[in-house]
Amino acid sequence: MAKISSDITEAKLYLDAGNIIGFPTETVYGLAANALDKKAVATIYKVKNRPSFDPLIVHCSSVAEIEKYAKTFPEELKLIATKYMPGACTVLLEKKDLIPSIVSAGLSKVAFRIPNHPKALELLNILNYPLAAPSANPFGYISPTSSLHVEKQLGTQIPFILEGGKCAIGIESTIIGLENNTIIVHRLGGLSVEEFSKNGLKVELQINQSSNPTSPGQIKSHYAPKKKFIVGNIEDLIEQFKNKKIGLLNFGKNKYNGVEIELNLSKNADTTEAAINLFDYMRTLDESDVDIIISSYVSNFGLGLAINDRLKRASTN
Ligand code: TXA
Ligand code: MG
Repeated sequence: MAKISSDITEAKLYLDAGNIIGFPTETVYGLAANALDKKAVATIYKVKNRPSFDPLIVHCSSVAEIEKYAKTFPEELKLIATKYMPGACTVLLEKKDLIPSIVSAGLSKVAFRIPNHPKALELLNILNYPLAAPSANPFGYISPTSSLHVEKQLGTQIPFILEGGKCAIGIESTIIGLENNTIIVHRLGGLSVEEFSKNGLKVELQINQSSNPTSPGQIKSHYAPKKKFIVGNIEDLIEQFKNKKIGLLNFGKNKYNGVEIELNLSKNADTTEAAINLFDYMRTLDESDVDIIISSYVSNFGLGLAINDRLKRASTN
């Protein structure tokens, strides 16, 4: 069992000693280590059972700190960073040699983010190194949105989890980079794409669907429950699996008969509320005694795009 506490000085002691800890952000909980300590970073890959080709995100306390570790910071991305950091936004920048290559899985660019979470920021502010952290779930499984989720899955392998409450956003950060003067969105996430256009920024989506993508974490099957999980027309699915115990991940006002458990992501069809509940409800259904989990896609605006991306990757077919 890991110790769960909101004491940042204790968290620092563990990190200074080269340990990895669970740490809260507003998107999802991370599994954090000193990003400058190769050995500690190697432990993250081991504990998560994460393939060595899948790079980590480096968490900093300020844009000035990011500049200490990035070789260059193109104007376009700097503008976004100034506007949306701290926040659910991650930028890809050429790294300095100070960041060990294990952090970026050998790539020349590294992902940087400033979490908008009071505990995470307090902790980052008292450390004299940034934190490398992927989401704190075993590779391929659903991301954690509470300390309890982290404890359940990784508690026996880490000494400490910094308590930060339930994640306010509930879905991972939006990852952006710059290629040939174009801002590219590599992963849909907690900062909606509309936010960029609202501010007159043109972005291009390059969301990988293949199993050998350039943004390695974007592999096709991810965020997945252990149970069979199917996304489609709910009425058809209920009919198709009428002999099974069905767990329904619902969205909006529609009512259905013939399901064992129903959890509603948002009765008001609000995608921001749905994002907060998504991973938690997926887990609850996965841990229940249903045979199969079904869901439909949510409205494709706001955080709906990111939610649908996760539903697609989590589903079995
Ligand atoms: O919200 C978040 O981003 C959370 C919290 C903990 O900060 N972190 C997170 O990390 O979602 P993780 O490891 O689950 O996802 C990191 C993903 C990688 O799988 C990859 O897709 C992308 O970020 N990434 C990281 N470094 C990259 C790089 N150098 N080039 C391309 N993609 C990169
Ligand atoms: Mg992850």
